[in-house]
Amino acid sequence: MRISSDEENIVQKENKLRAWFTQGLPENDRIIDGFDIGWGGTARWATSLLVEHLDPHRNLTILDVACGYGTFLVELGWRFPQAELIGLNLDFDPPHNRIASLLSQGEVKAHLISADALRLPLISMKFDCVSCFLGLQDIIITRGKESLVAVVSELLRTVSHHGFLALLDNFSRESFENILSQQNLEYDLVFHDSFKPNCQWSREVGFKAVEMYAQGYLQQQLDSKNPPDDSNKALTEIQKKMLRELENQLESQGYYNPWGIMRLVLLQRL
Ligand SMILES: C[S@@+](CC[C@H](N)C(=O)[O-])C[C@H]1O[C@@H](n2cnc3c(N)ncnc32)[C@H](O)[C@@H]1O
Repeated sequence: MRISSDEENIVQKENKLRAWFTQGLPENDRIIDGFDIGWGGTARWATSLLVEHLDPHRNLTILDVACGYGTFLVELGWRFPQAELIGLNLDFDPPHNRIASLLSQGEVKAHLISADALRLPLISMKFDCVSCFLGLQDIIITRGKESLVAVVSELLRTVSHHGFLALLDNFSRESFENILSQQNLEYDLVFHDSFKPNCQWSREVGFKAVEMYAQGYLQQQLDSKNPPDDSNKALTEIQKKMLRELENQLESQGYYNPWGIMRLVLLQRL
């Protein structure tokens, strides 16, 4: 299989994968689920920056933490066709079990490991690149906000000498800086910037998205260390908060983007 890092080639791969991923779904669900493939250009933006620092023709070892059902992992595979890829997630129960068919459709091979990002069953300094794409926000749900400093230390521990750690999430600059300032291992900050994903949903699509995302959020809360006592009440609270945000955004900008601004922090371990 010939894979080029050319943007248009990647866009075509995303379109093909998205068509498969959303086949048979009603229109609004297609828009919402389809966004997961590429995340409105975010995955292309992030992986194109990685290519500037890591040679795609080398036999790299890449670990993607909190890989979910592999939407970022597949893009890593497209950008780094020679790399040995490892996807790690808390579990591969539904819906994360979709990862096997998603990787297969994307023609990308990866080893999968079920583990907690707080305690990686992996040796230190092994990987040329470790990524975590929209994983930290979910780790907050399952392990608490106070776990983030330890999680990032754990990720950095597995990065090789002069290897890279790519953290991508919709946190503020200050939140990232706060986590990074508490790390013990030495690194250089090589890139820190934000990206606005192409996501401009109508109220109708937004309502449907809130319904779907609130369910997913609740499920993670139920699987966490401190599950809510009353799941119906918890779901109502989550939905209320999301709907408030939806209305605010519709009023201020005329569309709904549930993901906000994405921020990429790229560190090189010293
Ligand atoms: C929204 S997904 C991230 C998107 C994903 N990287 C992708 O490319 O599609 C977040 C994932 O974090 C996982 N997760 C949550 N807490 C975790 C933990 N403590 N350790 C490892 N994975 C965790 C969840 O199971 C979920 O699959």
